[in-house]
Amino acid sequence: QDTRIQRIASSIRVVPDFPKKGIMFQDITTLLLDPKAFKDTVDLFVEQYTGRGISVVAGVEARGFIFGPPIALAIGAKFVPLRKPRKLPGEVISENYILEYGSDCLEMHVGAVQPGERALVVDDLIATGGTLCAAISLLERAGAEVLECACVIELPELKGRGRLNGKPLYVLVESH
Ligand code: PRP
Ligand code: MG
Repeated sequence: QDTRIQRIASSIRVVPDFPKKGIMFQDITTLLLDPKAFKDTVDLFVEQYTGRGISVVAGVEARGFIFGPPIALAIGAKFVPLRKPRKLPGEVISENYILEYGSDCLEMHVGAVQPGERALVVDDLIATGGTLCAAISLLERAGAEVLECACVIELPELKGRGRLNGKPLYVLVESH
């Protein structure tokens, strides 16, 4: 497991001052260029979530759309996209949230999730936790039970974990 985590960690490129001065951008596109690191990432999540009765994997636009679907397919769950505003054609519920740089909103289709379903939320990274907090709210408003959130990278200094209302968070790599 440690060698897999090390490979994943070293495949992530850190870009200073992007998209703004002072931000150390964690670029997962370089992880995607390494098929072994990408596969190890998905496998580690699949090992964590197989057999836990999860029927919904919700992925956060945009980078949660990269890691969520292969996990959903492998564990036999449906994939639900949580999208940026005005992208979904059907009736939606919305949650506004504050980002590390700016503010945004996530939307989910009404009817995508049934009350009582067991959900996993997937994204590439947790910084302030605002995005995952909004994702959890959307699922809970639809009556789902959010078992856990899963991210490739955590920025622990930003204390996003503390904003998840005690929801478990599983991360592969901590970046300091
Ligand atoms: C980034 C990242 C997470 C979020 C984490 O997404 O992919 O989704 O920020 O930040 P938080 O924990 O402070 O909320 P971003 O909204 O920048 O855009 P993208 O995924 O569409 O590229
Ligand atoms: Mg994102």
